[in-house]
Amino acid sequence: MAVTSDQVLDALRAVQDPDLHRDIVSLGFVKDVVVEGGKVSFTIELTTPACPVKDLLKAQAEESVLALEGVDDVEVEMTAQVRARRQEAEDLLPGVRQVVAIASGKGGVGKSTVTVNLAVALAQSGAKVGLLDADVYGPSIPLMMGVPDERPLSRNSKIMPIERHGVRMMSLGFLLEEGQAVLWRGPMVAGTVRQLLADVMWGDLDYLLVDLPPGTGDAPMSLAQLVPLTGVVLVTTPHSVAANIAGKAAALFERLNTRILGVVENMAAHVCPTCGTEHRLFAGQSGEQLAAKLSTAYLGSVPLDAAVGEASDRGLPSLVAYPYRPQAAAFRAIAGSLAARTSTVAMGKDVQTVEFEPVS
Ligand SMILES: Nc1ncnc2c1ncn2[C@@H]1O[C@H](COP(=O)(O)OP(=O)(O)OP(=O)(O)O)[C@@H](O)[C@H]1O
Ligand SMILES: [Mg+2]
Repeated sequence: MAVTSDQVLDALRAVQDPDLHRDIVSLGFVKDVVVEGGKVSFTIELTTPACPVKDLLKAQAEESVLALEGVDDVEVEMTAQVRARRQEAEDLLPGVRQVVAIASGKGGVGKSTVTVNLAVALAQSGAKVGLLDADVYGPSIPLMMGVPDERPLSRNSKIMPIERHGVRMMSLGFLLEEGQAVLWRGPMVAGTVRQLLADVMWGDLDYLLVDLPPGTGDAPMSLAQLVPLTGVVLVTTPHSVAANIAGKAAALFERLNTRILGVVENMAAHVCPTCGTEHRLFAGQSGEQLAAKLSTAYLGSVPLDAAVGEASDRGLPSLVAYPYRPQAAAFRAIAGSLAARTSTVAMGKDVQTVEFEPVS
């Protein structure tokens, strides 16, 4: 006797999404169940292609259905549909599902490096990714992505992003003449950030990552006021100063009603190239401690690695130049945690604020 699709769905209720704390059937992830004799096929549609537990969920689903009597072959297709953030009626970014800003209190902690590598990691997972350089005072994305001399084209009075490593990007660096300096006043920053959002043909994107200048100045304020953000990632280094100032930046975003999605710690540890052991280099406050203090998620730690700076100087994200070094694994893991976190937020299942109803 062949199984029914209801029996297949029942079996799949045993598979739980660890971030959303619900089973994949009641979350609506299971689609297109087809039973042909002893062969069962179905699709699991996740909320992000960068899901860190994608392989685990697939294996558990296969195992649960194979355990049914009468089933001898299971075929699971994994797809993803990124859920949209809260949007406004006249949203400046109508096709962009998630907008995540990368901020820090102190300068030079590695925001731009983290932003570039997270963007590439998300794109490599299959997501459509944009990267907006909102550091109007010192745009560094064009150099870091190896496209300092590119000049964007415009079409139908919109500016076309420059694409590299699977990421669509825009920066004031593409629009200024070489050596041209701008004397900024607050309203000019707001106007420029608005233009970079609204006048660029961002198109259909799963994630737009925004690299901010350090601190709590006009750019983060304007951004948070111009577009509903999914939230902000704070980058910190293990020096107490960096953590303290990061705390101040967090307070500003909270005042702007913008959620802190989590903390990324950078340059805190070194991984020994011969034995692979991780050594922490400083005694200051860890990213984990800062995240706990701010009641937000700890998204992970990127080790100090000379390859990161060296690749960046050559115009390559280190994830592309050295995909097998520990920093690359760290960036991929952090991208997965961030994607999972934005999913929980978009689905209103933010673990920090929402009580879960028991699984029926
Ligand atoms: N994990 C790392 N290992 C080694 N070097 C790193 C690492 N992360 C960043 N760097 C280096 O540290 C320097 C500062 O990084 P980056 O420009 O990304 O910081 P930032 O926070 O964006 O700075 P700013 O505040 O000026 O915008 C760069 O030279 C970069 O290559
Ligand atoms: Mg920067």
